[in-house]
Amino acid sequence: MEDRRIKIGLIGLGTVGSGVYKTLESFEEIEIVKIAVKNKNKNRNIQNLDYSLLTEDPYEIVNNPEIDIVCELIGGINPAFELIEKSIKQGKHIVTANKELLAKKGEEIFNFAEKYNKVILYEAAVAGGIPIIMPIKTILAGNKINKLEAILNGTTNYILTKMDTENSSYDEVLKESQTLGYAEADPTSDVEGYDAAYKITTLATLAFKQKIRIEDVYREGITKIRSEDMKAANDLGYKIKLIASAKMDDENCADVRVHPMLIPKNSTLAHINYVTNAVSLTGHPVGHITLSGPGAGEFPTASSVVGDILAIATEIKTTDYPLPMMRCNHNKIAKCINILDTQNKYYLSLNAKNNKGVIGNIGNICAENDISLESIVQKYVCSDNTADITVITETCCEKNMQNAVKAFNESEFINKVNNLIRVQI
Ligand code: HSE
Repeated sequence: MEDRRIKIGLIGLGTVGSGVYKTLESFEEIEIVKIAVKNKNKNRNIQNLDYSLLTEDPYEIVNNPEIDIVCELIGGINPAFELIEKSIKQGKHIVTANKELLAKKGEEIFNFAEKYNKVILYEAAVAGGIPIIMPIKTILAGNKINKLEAILNGTTNYILTKMDTENSSYDEVLKESQTLGYAEADPTSDVEGYDAAYKITTLATLAFKQKIRIEDVYREGITKIRSEDMKAANDLGYKIKLIASAKMDDENCADVRVHPMLIPKNSTLAHINYVTNAVSLTGHPVGHITLSGPGAGEFPTASSVVGDILAIATEIKTTDYPLPMMRCNHNKIAKCINILDTQNKYYLSLNAKNNKGVIGNIGNICAENDISLESIVQKYVCSDNTADITVITETCCEKNMQNAVKAFNESEFINKVNNLIRVQI
């Protein structure tokens, strides 16, 4: 009898690959025929692993005519990009969890896949276990989506939640997170917002049906957030979160960014804590919806990868043109606004000298830059005769705010601009 099982090649057997291997064990219709790894002899925490499947040469997968679907789980641009292109050329469909590759090379690989009538699915690349790509592509396809606001990085959300609940410093929490394995030894990609920027780039491209270029995405990480900012934000009714956002205005101009943000304590995203991720989207006719869940981890991410594998496997048994709704078309590049031209509200923390006229000076600098204040708080004068002053502005232009910060840095009344964080409008 003909073997109707769909044959898979796994490239990568790290955390996600292991979860995929273990999950696929219970699917008889799928057979993993090869797994490419860096080191065949490494001991792996997979009970029933068939070590004879392992190879150190990924081209044993790429060039294997038996394989229908290549599952790329190594991340990064090189060699993932080349392996994907060569696999497509060899007639394979692709499932990937590679957010950096999609953000930087999405246009190229999707166009390439289309040329060879192959599909690339990537549900795991944006919000781990939260289903968001397939819903946007299929059941939400009738919507005009004009706004996304999301928490797309578990590491930074964990750090910010701990800083908030334990009143600890960024450095303390980062160190503890690294010891517990929540943060990488080199945490740059997470804490500087690169990971979230890759994810929002892909998500916004999909939602707006126009290519967002990663170069047009404004990015700022969480390394400058102090426990004093957490406390001041709390006192004013806010939480601080690393928010990835994307908006499309009526003139078809996109505003896509990742930066820390004060969000009202009663908002949905303010309740998303520790490693949980969430995506809120606003569209017509659906209105406002939020999906939340595990954004990373062995099994949540495997859930999305295996879902993609099964979606392709089911289709290729019955059609020569699988999954038409899941295909990408990136012909139009979105026009994006520069952050300096955006309108925002701001939280500003200043350390000032204890002099007469300081508050007046702050008000004057803001007024000279066309910035109106919503609130200004000085609770006490410190023992060193300085005072921390917290300002919340009304909505104003980023360019003006940056000019005001320059003026504060030059003001004889101000010792230091402690921090400037945008506030959700
Ligand atoms: N490092 C990411 C996070 C998970 O902390 O959410 C993988 O994208």
